[in-house]
Amino acid sequence: MKAKNPETDSKRNLTFIRELAREAGDYIRKSAHRLKRVHYKGEIDLVTQFDRKSQDLIVRQLTREFPGYGILSEENMSRDVDAPVKWIVDPLDGTTNFAHGLPIWAISIALENKGNIVLGVIYDPTRDEMFHAIKSGGAFLNGKRISVSSVNELDQALLVTGFPYDIRTAKENNLNHFSNFAVRAQAVRRLGSAALDLCYTACGRFDGYWEMKLSPWDQAAGSLILSEAGGRITDFTGRKFSIYGDEVLGTNGLVHQQMMDVLNTVD
Ligand code: IPD
Ligand code: CA
Ligand code: CA
Repeated sequence: MKAKNPETDSKRNLTFIRELAREAGDYIRKSAHRLKRVHYKGEIDLVTQFDRKSQDLIVRQLTREFPGYGILSEENMSRDVDAPVKWIVDPLDGTTNFAHGLPIWAISIALENKGNIVLGVIYDPTRDEMFHAIKSGGAFLNGKRISVSSVNELDQALLVTGFPYDIRTAKENNLNHFSNFAVRAQAVRRLGSAALDLCYTACGRFDGYWEMKLSPWDQAAGSLILSEAGGRITDFTGRKFSIYGDEVLGTNGLVHQQMMDVLNTVD
């Protein structure tokens, strides 16, 4: 059998991954009324039976279809994570929202090839919004090309952020940046799904997004979708972004420097 090439096979993989994200998302949406218990991974970090069921469904099919690829998935179900080609999965991004019945959550699946994200799919079943990108192929929402906004003044920018799960105990908890942006931007939102924050910045609903202490699965697919939509993504000081790093600043490019200036303000 001819070996799969993750770059050239991206188009074929995309169809499969979009269907898989849809299947997992629709399953969760339809069964949400059966949510019984939430478990605590940390003081405020939740997991539900649906995070695990969605992961089981996704990992089972990825394993069958791509036996040679590694998988890094949030709920302790990873294998061959050092493989040069691996899937990076967040089976339910926005669990706190989901557990409270707030319909802002998504499924996120990305393919990493030798350190580069080459495919990203994020599906929001509540709004039936399917975001995707293939490296160097643009970013799309339900099949239509998307691009970042043209707002170029921080003063007129709608921003989004999130807070780390150690907010109660850590000094670096983002509250300083939040209050600085609250008085400089047009407004700041906190949606509760990093995957959707990145997609919404990619399609111009937000002009900029920043967050700290995320995990690779929170930002792998979204970072590609944002860059392919013409956005800029770095750490807080403008250095190359890594999904394994501690900081993400993703913008339309035009407010990037202004956001860096605020993030690097000495309080
Ligand atoms: C969380 C969401 C949230 C972000 C958290 C993430 P989860 O993912 O993306 O927006 O602020 O840091 O961990 O736990 O719902 O998959
Ligand atoms: Ca997540
Ligand atoms: Ca998750």
